[in-house]
Amino acid sequence: MEARHDVLIVGAGCAGMRAAIEAFDAGADVALLSKIHPVRSHSGAAEGGINAALGNASEDDPETHAYDTVKGSDYLGDQDAIQILCDEAPDDVYQLENWGAVFSRTEDGRIAQRPFGAAGAPRTAYAADITGHVLVHVLYEQVMKRQIPAYEEYFAWKLVMDDDRCQGVIAWDLLNGGLKSIGAKTVILATGGAGRLYVGTTNAYSCTGDGMALALRVGVALKDMEMMQFHPTTLSPTGVLITEGTRGEGAYLLNSEGDRFLERYAPNAMELASRDVISRAEQTEIDEGRGIDGNVVLDLRHLGADRILERLHGTRELAMTFAGVDPIYELLPVRPGAHYHMGGVDTDVWGLTSVEGLYAAGECACVSVHGANRLGGNALMETIRRPCRGLGALEHDRRGPAVHRGRRGARAQGAPRP
Ligand code: FUM
Repeated sequence: MEARHDVLIVGAGCAGMRAAIEAFDAGADVALLSKIHPVRSHSGAAEGGINAALGNASEDDPETHAYDTVKGSDYLGDQDAIQILCDEAPDDVYQLENWGAVFSRTEDGRIAQRPFGAAGAPRTAYAADITGHVLVHVLYEQVMKRQIPAYEEYFAWKLVMDDDRCQGVIAWDLLNGGLKSIGAKTVILATGGAGRLYVGTTNAYSCTGDGMALALRVGVALKDMEMMQFHPTTLSPTGVLITEGTRGEGAYLLNSEGDRFLERYAPNAMELASRDVISRAEQTEIDEGRGIDGNVVLDLRHLGADRILERLHGTRELAMTFAGVDPIYELLPVRPGAHYHMGGVDTDVWGLTSVEGLYAAGECACVSVHGANRLGGNALMETIRRPCRGLGALEHDRRGPAVHRGRRGARAQGAPRP
């Protein structure tokens, strides 16, 4: 091997960088490997926010967050994993804030939370409509502070297997050509989704399912791959994401007859129904001839210029750049588009796969906290949740699987955060 580390993380978006930080702080020699520069990762395209029951906008608690997530998953999510996600979410958001994430604030200075689809309370903490971008930069600052090395512009081509365990990665040097072999006691796949399988998608060109393919080739099962999420508001014609935050702020959907058609599909939740319900409703309207050039339209005009400029300035910029329309004055043409893989590399709640030494985290993994339908705002939370942080991987590697059971017990008794 040309290089060796305790922990090598393939992918440097939110899940990869969060894992790197945790593994480093636990004393590991850790490195990131990514086919693009970390701050160009697709995590930066997450717009609307991150879910945690902070209870800042109205009463809320992790139990309600868990209930909404289980229900939103069509009862197919792993309820134990969901409970961990929702219990730990508030501390995770405060950790990000302490690192410098500039969340939007309430009048009295707390972290603001907006309503998102299928959530029983306004639970989505946000930084205007560029939340993922902010989190990517905050995490990258922490990676830089720790001087964690990153093999940038390396494409992970193959996992190295020996003695029935993963021993490292062979990668292609995209800049100079040639292969590089990097040994690691623990490899964590954090390569994101595979939305580019679809013609209409919110996903960047980099979202090509690399981690899923790497795992599959060494015999790790992929789980729930039929569970693909279609986001209801992708901008026509490019498929760029128009955040659910627009509807959280009060924007609504209209068909060619000017009707708020969701009255017929989700009369109570309306534009804040779950994504699968709204996407199906839109497609039905389009298929039955009530669309406009294969789209429906999203109306933000009644929100007013001040609110759009304060909370949805990124949306306005995207709409003007990619569709030539200004949402302060005009309707946005939108349609459902492939957005997120609920399925992925089969892992336990600590991210461990069926192969010793190989873990997966974030969108490329399937724990499964999303079941058949992920709630908006739960993806960013999944990327920074504790089991994705690499500490589990490190402890597992050094002391064997029993440590997983001990870890949760120790933390439940109030063990300090690392
Ligand atoms: O609509 C959005 O802002 C997307 C968020 C998410 O997929 O979690």
